[in-house]
Amino acid sequence: MRAKRSTLIHLIYFSRLNLAADAPSRTRQIGEITRQAQKKNEFSVITSFLIIDQNFAAQIIEGERASVSDTFGRISNDPRHRDVQIVEWREILKREFVNSFTTGVRGPVNDGLFQKANLLPMFQRGTPKGAAIHGLAVNLQAESMTKQGIDHLFV
Ligand SMILES: Cc1cc2nc3c(=O)[nH]c(=O)nc-3n(C[C@H](O)[C@H](O)[C@H](O)COP(=O)(O)O)c2cc1C
Repeated sequence: MRAKRSTLIHLIYFSRLNLAADAPSRTRQIGEITRQAQKKNEFSVITSFLIIDQNFAAQIIEGERASVSDTFGRISNDPRHRDVQIVEWREILKREFVNSFTTGVRGPVNDGLFQKANLLPMFQRGTPKGAAIHGLAVNLQAESMTKQGIDHLFV
């Protein structure tokens, strides 16, 4: 008999970032978060995608139940953001994100995808939909993989 796989879940939350207003400091702070998160997520076999639109953040965290729970426990206590709210938490059959930690920051290159998802008004009302966050993250990942020429590996 095949061994039962441990339970995979994904957790989606959103928050308001407490980052610096000037672009260079903000980029440096996002770089620091990325370095910490990549290392920890690799160790815990977590895959994730973080969306940043103005001062709003939304992240999808995938992995084994206990690892996701530990990771989210740390993230929710981080003073670099506030008003951390869970949007969705459920079992999944397979992972959808390929990296331990990728960030999609809204900018000129990907603005079309952000506009299509239209998350900003939902963030402002405090009611972003899990499906909208998830859809945008999947599209941002797909666009970035196409640019790198590796999209055929992940169909
Ligand atoms: C928006 C945001 C997303 C983050 N994402 C992760 C993540 O995916 N994994 C992670 O381990 N830490 C993440 N962090 C950093 C954690 O909050 C924490 O600082 C880090 O895990 C180190 O924790 P420690 O100081 O308790 O060891 C994130 C922080 C912020 C502000």
